[in-house]
Amino acid sequence: MCGIIGFTGRSQAKDILVEGLTRMEYRGYDSAGVALEVAGADGEARLDVIRRVGKVAGLASELEGYKDESTCGIGHTRWATHGRPSTANAHPHTSCDGRIAVVHNGIVENFAELREELQDRGHEFKSDTDTEVFAHLIEEAYGCEGDLMAAVREAVSQVAGAYGLAAVCADEPGTIAVARKDSPIIIGMGEMGAYVASDVIALIDATRDVVVLADDQFAKLTPEGIECTDSEGRAIQPEVTHVDWDLDMAEKGGYPDFMLKEIHEQPRVVRDTLVGRMSANGELDIDELGLSLQELNDIDRVYVIACGTSYHAGLVAKNVIEGWARIPCEVEAASEFRYRDPIITPSTLVVAVSQSGETADTLAAIRDARIKGAKVFGITNVVGSPVARESDGVIYTKANKEIAVASTKSFIGQIVSLMLLALLLAQVKYRLSTKTARMLFRELGDTAEQIQRILDESSDSIHEAAEAVAPAHSALFVGRGMGAAIAYEGALKLKEVSYLHAEAYAAGEMKHGPIALIEPGFPVIAVATKSPTYDKVVSNLMECRARGAVVVTVATEGDEEIKKIADHVIYIPQVRDCFSPITASVPLQLLAREAALLRGCDVDQPRNLAKSVTVE
Ligand code: F6R
Repeated sequence: MCGIIGFTGRSQAKDILVEGLTRMEYRGYDSAGVALEVAGADGEARLDVIRRVGKVAGLASELEGYKDESTCGIGHTRWATHGRPSTANAHPHTSCDGRIAVVHNGIVENFAELREELQDRGHEFKSDTDTEVFAHLIEEAYGCEGDLMAAVREAVSQVAGAYGLAAVCADEPGTIAVARKDSPIIIGMGEMGAYVASDVIALIDATRDVVVLADDQFAKLTPEGIECTDSEGRAIQPEVTHVDWDLDMAEKGGYPDFMLKEIHEQPRVVRDTLVGRMSANGELDIDELGLSLQELNDIDRVYVIACGTSYHAGLVAKNVIEGWARIPCEVEAASEFRYRDPIITPSTLVVAVSQSGETADTLAAIRDARIKGAKVFGITNVVGSPVARESDGVIYTKANKEIAVASTKSFIGQIVSLMLLALLLAQVKYRLSTKTARMLFRELGDTAEQIQRILDESSDSIHEAAEAVAPAHSALFVGRGMGAAIAYEGALKLKEVSYLHAEAYAAGEMKHGPIALIEPGFPVIAVATKSPTYDKVVSNLMECRARGAVVVTVATEGDEEIKKIADHVIYIPQVRDCFSPITASVPLQLLAREAALLRGCDVDQPRNLAKSVTVE
């Protein structure tokens, strides 16, 4: 996730910016940069912009040789969303005359239109980013207003999307203008001056009394102080929060571990992955489609290839690719696919799913599929990763950097992205009307709110269920249809973080073998949400219960009947069955984490596991 820092005051800005950027590096980065206000030889102020691809250390060593005594500047670490990682795409971005520089977190949904309009008015763009439109919009408004704060207010009024923004202007030395909508911005006054950051971790050495800007609020920072205003420019008195987190807590956003922080980021991941994807007339916008509509229309077979959690996202995708687009779809572990001789023709689409975008087996399978003539579509979290580079088309999951080894928010981003692809295929093949596609897209977006409700309301029932599961030696996860896919992922999460043996089975298969495992006290965890196979799952659970199993269910709100067969019920909101994997996964992630904590495990760094598996 990108990080913003800014300082204006009575101290060298460059050291403060580099320190802030280094603190935020844990959030993920592909490039970093700063803009510093300096006095030119002629006495006129100018902006020096220094940017580097790679780690902040690279930028820091470049800045070591930088001698100007600037006391005002802004900086940024980038995690690419629009445009590949490159120096040109690194922030800060500047206006045509180079006298305005901006750093931005978030997404400009209408950037294509704005960019075109600005180009028509003579602006020259130097990057592929959505952020650059801010620099040009502010430049235009500054020409009329002659006031940076007013120009920023005018610029953001033209933007649809999310922004945490900081801007400097060489004609207003010492001023940083800040704006926020749906992307965090924190400001504070320290002994040496005024600070802005997107993450409290970058500020806590300077001050612990901070203001968390609310949406549609603005702030003007000068060495003397901070003035906060609303969107009309009226002064407001913001609430000051005292932060008593230590560094470790600050990195985790106040959560005890990254896994919990990332689980809580999932509503945002759903929103960000969908933002700007569907136009008013129902057309889908995919990052880098790479295939013509004719090529998409010709597709008659889909293979989803992936590993681990990403493979489970593929199991969910099979249901919607076949259900909505009516194209036969197979899901295979990339490690198996690469050593088989699958039937591939030019009308085969291989969808490679990989959070890291660098899993060795998935990459080898992509290469193999391409040699055999398939079209390849990548679903990844990392812009410019090998999976993105080697695929014909890509959808980015917008999960931002995932730090906990066990995948949570990436999984949700993958499912949402795969559903976008399924909707696209269904539309191209005229298997869904625009009206239905729009409705499904809207309901997909509603899952953000539903996940939030689960996070807000289910912790007690999840904790009780975890207490029942944690002492066991083994556990069985069951479900049917979409529920089976989620059961597989639930079992993987539990074994990864708690080291408890867990196995998943399609519930209907229980009587063909696994039921022999059931003895009194054995935990069976079932996805038993309202679905076409609900009654079947219930009867499978009765069989387990009759043999003494401790039954834990994830069930639909309002289902009182389930209490008769379940020892523990975790309720989730009602959603259309095809979207249940998005909501039902969340309590199982939390259950795994709680059980792991009860067993004394490190949930962020489970033993023997690596975040990206770049060897076979
Ligand atoms: C499980 C987990 C792994 C990964 C797998 C594939 O929580 O994270 O199973 O899903 O190693 O990794 P990517 O998606 O990076 O290809």
